[in-house]
Amino acid sequence: MRVVVVSSADRAARVAARSVAAALRRDPALVLGLPTGRTPVLFYETLVALYRRRRVDFGLATTFNLDELIGLARDDPRSYRAYMRRHLFEHVNLAPRRTHLPDSAAVDGRLECARYERQLTRAGGLGLAVVGLGRNGHVGFNEPAPALQGRTHVTRLRLESRRANAHLFGGRWQQVPTHAISMGIGTILQARAILLIATGRTKARVLASALQGPVTTRVPASLLQTHPSALAIVDADAARYLRP
Ligand code: GLP
Repeated sequence: MRVVVVSSADRAARVAARSVAAALRRDPALVLGLPTGRTPVLFYETLVALYRRRRVDFGLATTFNLDELIGLARDDPRSYRAYMRRHLFEHVNLAPRRTHLPDSAAVDGRLECARYERQLTRAGGLGLAVVGLGRNGHVGFNEPAPALQGRTHVTRLRLESRRANAHLFGGRWQQVPTHAISMGIGTILQARAILLIATGRTKARVLASALQGPVTTRVPASLLQTHPSALAIVDADAARYLRP
């Protein structure tokens, strides 16, 4: 895995956004995997700024989010779909019919997972998966466990993941849904390229395990080490425990 260390979270967002813009120039019909969370906010801001300066065009692109909370109405402002609208979809020329997230209101979670996986396969799979890093090492919502699911699945959120999402629920983690739908680790690893963004001190320990520790399902992001074309863009705070 290639690692690029930059001085600040702001720079990490810029380098990541430029790299996605370049990928879209090479392949305007790119299928992007997209993350939510606090880390990518700056990344989306930068992408929107590049779009306004006509440095990136989403006209032919397709997006699939990595995950979505379940048990929320489709238009719930706390859903990841609403997050994506706020931070990206409303500001760029992505065709709404080509922006995909699992349905937060799905009644039958397993059917919804199968549908999502099929939709992604029909689109040709992920060209570039942009991923964040959970404090517990999760990627998408593939939580640390003795074994991981390969494909899109319903997952029970760990307490720390519900806490990490409390910002969407007015700081009240108890209101964060207990379950989510997440792409499987195999679905993510089948992307032709992966771009991991990690910033801030809270990610420093888990980043070192993910990038330089053993490959283990206990740190799901460590599986990214096995990918032939994965790039991590990290800031100095997150990189503090990385060996040179
Ligand atoms: C969230 C998302 C993940 C994301 C991670 C990190 O809950 N489901 O896809 O990568 O947790 O979030 P943050 O950037 O807020 O630390």
